[in-house]
This record gives sequence, C-alpha cells and structure tokens, in this order.
Amino acid sequence: PVVAVLFGGRSSEHSISSATAAGVLEAIDRDRYRVIPVGVTRTGAFVLEADDPAKFRLDPQHMPEVVDNGTRVLWPEAAGDRRMRVRTAEGVLEDLGAVDVVLPILHGSHGEDGTIQGFFDTLELPYAGGGVLDSALCMDKHFMKVALQAAGVPVSPGITIRRPDWDGTAASVLAAMGDTPLPWFVKPSRAGSSVGVSKVHTVDELDDALRIAFAEDDKVLVERGVVGREVEVGVLEGRSGAPARASLPGEIVLTTREFYDFEGKYLGGDGVEVVCPAVLTDAETEAVQQMALRAFAAVDGRGLARVDFFLTEDGPVVNELNTMPGFTPISMFPKCWIASGMTYPALISELIETALA
Ligand code: DAL
Ligand code: MG
Repeated sequence: PVVAVLFGGRSSEHSISSATAAGVLEAIDRDRYRVIPVGVTRTGAFVLEADDPAKFRLDPQHMPEVVDNGTRVLWPEAAGDRRMRVRTAEGVLEDLGAVDVVLPILHGSHGEDGTIQGFFDTLELPYAGGGVLDSALCMDKHFMKVALQAAGVPVSPGITIRRPDWDGTAASVLAAMGDTPLPWFVKPSRAGSSVGVSKVHTVDELDDALRIAFAEDDKVLVERGVVGREVEVGVLEGRSGAPARASLPGEIVLTTREFYDFEGKYLGGDGVEVVCPAVLTDAETEAVQQMALRAFAAVDGRGLARVDFFLTEDGPVVNELNTMPGFTPISMFPKCWIASGMTYPALISELIETALA
C-alpha cells in the first residue's frame, strides 16, 4: 500500500509532530509500504518533504520544522479518486500515484481536532487514527470532560471560562472557584503538550496564568490539582469490529519538576522520569486499563488514543485523552505498547492496517 505520512501543521505542536515523523519515517515497514512524506508548514502549505528521518529528529537546541520548499502537494480532485500530484517548485505537475491511506501524525488544531479528518472523509480517502467526532471532542478539554462525565468516567473538577466572561482579571474565577484548595491548573481548552498551561500555587499567580492560557485559546479551564500518580494507557481500536484493547500503563514520575510541562516533555528538562511499565498492583493495572477503554468508548474513539490518569486513593481519574499522542519511539504511547509486547514498526503497521480494514 501507498501511505501519505502527514506531519508538521499549523498548531503550536508543529515541531512535536515533525519529531514524531522522524520516528515514523525511520521505522515504517518499507517492504510493505511506499511512503509519500507530506509536510504541512506552520502557515498551512502542503509540501512534498524529504523522506529523511534525520532531518526531523527532536533536538532541543533546534526543534524540527517543515519549511516551505516551494512544492505543493495536490490532494485527489474528487471523492473516490486516489491520485495525488505535486507541483514542483518550478511549477511542473508530477504524478505521485494513487494513495491508499493517509497517516496523519499531526498534533493540535487543524490536525488532531477533526478538521483534516473531515476533509479526508469528504474525499473518501482512508486515514489512520481518530475520526471527526472523537478528534474534535478530545481536542476540546471542556467538551471531552462533558462526554466523559456523561459516561460516568471521573474527571478533574474545575470550571470553564470563555473569553467574553473574562474581564482581564482573576476576580470572576476566584468567585467561581470558591474555597477549592490550591494548587490549580490553568489550561487552554484546545491545546496540547502543556502549551499555555500553568500551575497556580497562590491566587496572585492567577492573573498571569489566565493571560498565558487566553493567549492560546478563547476558552480556558481552571482545575483543582488532583493528588495522585500520573499514569497513562495506550488504547488501540480493534480491527474489523474487534474490541479495543489497552496497553500496560506507563507512569510519569515527577522528582523535582512541578508538573510535566513542555520543557520536561521535549526540551530535556530534568526532574521528571518516564517509567514503563508502571509499577502497579494487578488490581491497579486492571482498573486503569478498564477505565481507559471506558473513556475511549465514551468519546467514540477510533484508531488510537492515549488516556492520561491521576491514580488517586479513590481510584483512577481521567485527566484527558489524546487522539494523536506523541509517537516518537521514546514517547509514552509506543513505549506502553512495546512493554505490552509489540514492536514500534508493528505498531505503525497496526494503525495503517486498521484504517485499511
Ligand atoms: N499532545 C502531545 C503530542 C501528546 O499528547 O503526547
Ligand atoms: Mg494533551
């Protein structure tokens, strides 16, 4: 099969998606798949990229990036048509052949939020990963929580503030949060990789935290910090109607870092360790796996998701689902599946084959 690997994108997680592409381009089974690497620049141009994993490796000093090389990838012209073309930098149209499936390893808005998924649905072009609804729901932390709560899945308590309801100060938030004990987390509703997220220890930090979050989105969540171990589980859709399955859990262990922020995730910041599999009792493992599958079902999950938990004294609380979790070989989602007995190349094949089934 011919696979268009789509990465980069218009969101604040552009570089993370590019780093994910490095892992995928390196590991994808080349005996089985012919790859068309399609980069999306920060401003939204589709360019034919070099099929070169080394170009996109995660490097904290120089985050990988898709730059406009003047080419333009042209998607099929009509529903059901599979032919892709490229207009070269010199303006010449060239055939890329028929594509069988798209592997969108895009994070954040215009990639992980159902919009590009809707575009592919309109073209009847098969694609791996989440569909329109689950992607849109999970990109929006407010509505994700609404859907999870409706299914009886415990979530972090908190409030949502829309921009028109924010007077530029913390006053209304303080009133709404009442005597909720600190610390609180302030997050843009639609972002990822902890971009725009602050941990608030005292109320005088709230003004700045709100400003930082509203710089990313028109909707902001303020949540009580849940006390518990941070445990994450990978979920894969079953092929051809088989039930979804959950990986062994991994754990984010904070030693000196305040929370698992962007620096701790990608820039080599210290004070945090990723442990996989997590050291849990069988009962705890079973509890988070079952809750992960319930959460996946509650959002009509498709393809894959990483379900992030706080494991509290009263059981697991879902922090969020990510429908296109970080996917480099050292990211948590692949690590969890590798710990569960799958290889990284086999995991990539699994996503593609599920989309083709
Ligand atoms: N949003 C990042 C990529 C993650 O969930 O891993
Ligand atoms: Mg996320």
